[in-house]
Amino acid sequence: MTTAIPDLGLTALEVLTTTRAVRHRLALDRPVDPAVLRRCVEIALQAPTGRNSQRAAFVVVTEPERKHALADLWRRGLGQGDEPMSPADLRRAYAEPGSMERVWSGLRHLADNLHRVPALVIPCIEGRAEHLALPQQASHFGSILPAVWSFLLAARAHGLGTVWTTGNLAVEREVAELLGIPYDEVMQVALIPVAHTKGTAFRPAHRVPVDEVLHWNRW
Ligand SMILES: Cc1cc2nc3c(=O)[nH]c(=O)nc-3n(C[C@H](O)[C@H](O)[C@H](O)COP(=O)(O)O)c2cc1C
Repeated sequence: MTTAIPDLGLTALEVLTTTRAVRHRLALDRPVDPAVLRRCVEIALQAPTGRNSQRAAFVVVTEPERKHALADLWRRGLGQGDEPMSPADLRRAYAEPGSMERVWSGLRHLADNLHRVPALVIPCIEGRAEHLALPQQASHFGSILPAVWSFLLAARAHGLGTVWTTGNLAVEREVAELLGIPYDEVMQVALIPVAHTKGTAFRPAHRVPVDEVLHWNRW
């Protein structure tokens, strides 16, 4: 008999609108049941993939020593290769007073504590994208990023907090070596810290008003 995996009983719409980037509210000292992580990956695999190619893979790192080494690499990769923010990006990012200050404070907290987060999850996809033309790139990333977001949503539904990070990508080869990921055949796309959340109430975020970005029939 399989044991039921507990969840918060949120509706789909609540999960979709309250899955936040969790940094300060990660419960660092509370273990996460591997069965819940497995279920979240199983749910993530329901996401669509181009031509039903199903080339996603997830590496879940929970061993303390490996997490330490991975966190050290992630800190080295942090900020490297980031696109500069355009004036429009900055305007949007800072639109809600205090929001970017919260992001920077959260980032510092995460950088200081990444090795203490119970699970570090690296979503991957078979095949590399560097040399693909745009349509193939769109298909490649489109066949993994929906699964990554589904993983974050599934985690939220089960009371876990996550934050999408990319600090591993600037040092992807070293991370691949550390974790035995075959770099030439498998590409990492993110690194997701996962922990229970401190409290379970999260609110919809401030976003660009929908009518500023929704175009009907033509741009
Ligand atoms: C592609 C992508 C890359 C991101 N990279 C990072 C990162 O490296 N570190 C981090 O702490 N947050 C990262 N984030 C999280 C964003 O900062 C977060 O989603 C955004 O601020 C909105 O947060 P909110 O939903 O809590 O309002 C990333 C998010 C995405 C989608």
